[in-house]
Amino acid sequence: MDQIRITGGQKLNGTISISGAKNAALPLMIASLLTRETLTLANLPRLADVAMLKRILTNHGVDHSVDGKRIGQDVLTGETVHFTAREIVDNTAPYDLVARMRASFWVIGPLLARTGFAKVSLPGGCAIGTRPVDFFIDALRKLGAEIEIEAGYVIAKAPSGGLHGGRIRFPKVTVGATHVAMMAASLAHGETIIENAAREPEVEDLAACLNKMGAKITGAGTPTIIIEGVRELYGARHAVLPDRIESGTYAFAVAMTGGDVLLEGARENLIDKPIEILRKIGAEVTITNEGVRVSRNGHGLAPVHVVTEPFPGFPTDLQAQLMALVCRADGVSTIRETIFENRFMHVQELARLGADITLDGQVATVTGVPRLKGAPVMATDLRASVGLVIAALVAEGDTMVNRVYHLDRGFERLEEKLGRCGADIERIAA
Ligand code: EPZ
Repeated sequence: MDQIRITGGQKLNGTISISGAKNAALPLMIASLLTRETLTLANLPRLADVAMLKRILTNHGVDHSVDGKRIGQDVLTGETVHFTAREIVDNTAPYDLVARMRASFWVIGPLLARTGFAKVSLPGGCAIGTRPVDFFIDALRKLGAEIEIEAGYVIAKAPSGGLHGGRIRFPKVTVGATHVAMMAASLAHGETIIENAAREPEVEDLAACLNKMGAKITGAGTPTIIIEGVRELYGARHAVLPDRIESGTYAFAVAMTGGDVLLEGARENLIDKPIEILRKIGAEVTITNEGVRVSRNGHGLAPVHVVTEPFPGFPTDLQAQLMALVCRADGVSTIRETIFENRFMHVQELARLGADITLDGQVATVTGVPRLKGAPVMATDLRASVGLVIAALVAEGDTMVNRVYHLDRGFERLEEKLGRCGADIERIAA
């Protein structure tokens, strides 16, 4: 397994191009199952999770062709990929694939809506929590689906006349189940109302794409989404929105090391809350036509108190990165994780670098320390691993991050993007 070696102490200066959002690309790719025509997605990030989902979609009968393009010398835009599900050849999503990437469970919505049948493996838990699918099952039942769970699979059948509209109210904000309910309801007979819907920008991006395909969705981005079902969806072309978690991650990295970096393509409205926190900590954030510029020159880092919340609150996917940053703050910070029950695995790894963090249930108390020292650390989940990278960028000496396949799931060419801004970082192929 590849490792990444980082020698701390270098400031970051220059430009980082922000890739298309992983968490928008995945539901958009799954939406291609809803039509026999071609869905063209531009600005797809080159990530392990995107490659894995391409494989899964191929199983169901989706053909895809790529015509990525190069702009300038070495700045690759994301890929432009054409997805065509002329017919669904297999309605089953097997355990060995779904278990590796939870989002593949979301194919249940389009498979059910398009063909009336879906057999999808339960995704199982993962490092950050049990991550059940009860909200998905309740939502699909509200659209008329008959659902049973058998031998680790969710087996869903639509009524003979197809799915019908319904009233869905989520007990807790859920991004995935909001995506799935929207996709299934797009082809149901009649009107569906989703209440307490997720307001993440990726939900809005999916709704915008579905509407280009002929769906009739209003209210995406608000807590109430209304879908008027249509008989068929058609091909369309859609560009994936920039990755707000990647943007926030590199913004925290610059705040940590000091320096001045333009996050090219980042959009302020996708990272309002992280920008507010960054300014409180002491970074300077300037909005420009090209993106978001982050700098910190000289003065120290102030402690903060943050609670993770659904959008537009502070995102749980930036929690580990924030924790790494405040390890070097002048004072005591607190971070309360409210979305997942076990998203503090990075704590013991940060402690190996000299961080002073105590946990009490869902609250981490971080007492800033004057320095961190490099050490071998282990990546445990996608976002925890990049938190370790941020800490390593200022740790004295070498840090070796192991199991970097976690990083490759969500960060495109991380060592290249940081290395071009001055970080002393290299990937060591196993
Ligand atoms: C999406 O996961 C993201 N993944 C996650 O990013 C992100 O952390 C999460 O939303 C929250 O913003 C993708 O978009 C691919 P949820 P999702 O359904 O949809 C509970 C990353 O690092 N829940 O919003 O799976 C669940 O256990 C990943 O890119 C139920 O109880 O998350 C969690 O506590 C990590 N029953 C909470 O709701 C259900 O049926 C929010 O989960 C569904 C969810």
